[in-house]
Amino acid sequence: MASQELIDGLQKALNREVSTFLRYMLQASMIKGIEYAPVRSMYDAEVNDEIGHAKYLAEKIVMLGGVPKLNPDLTPPPQEVRAMLKNDIAEEKKDVEHYKKLADLAEEAGLIELKLHMEDQAADEEGHALEMERMLG
Ligand SMILES: [Fe+2]
Ligand SMILES: [Fe+2]
Repeated sequence: MASQELIDGLQKALNREVSTFLRYMLQASMIKGIEYAPVRSMYDAEVNDEIGHAKYLAEKIVMLGGVPKLNPDLTPPPQEVRAMLKNDIAEEKKDVEHYKKLADLAEEAGLIELKLHMEDQAADEEGHALEMERMLG
């Protein structure tokens, strides 16, 4: 049985994912200059990863008896590429911690598929942070 805490946590994760893919889409469109082409490609590719995470979360909220609600953070992203990367590394690391918490709640609820999926998404976000840290140099 899914707790309200678990459904609320999935809801929060959904909105973080939607905020992230909107920000990455915008940042990919804002980045100019041949020296930043790899960063632009990375953001472009990660949009699709984050959309996949958001879709999973929305479907899971419904299957657990909730209603997915969108309330994304539309704060304009930094203009400068290194500031974008620093901001996103911090946000990806917050996502890792949130997914680890959701994995624990899913385990308590006996939801093994959800637990493993939350760990998988935690690993994806840690991978994103590591890739960005490498780009920062
Ligand atoms: Fe994500
Ligand atoms: Fe990510």
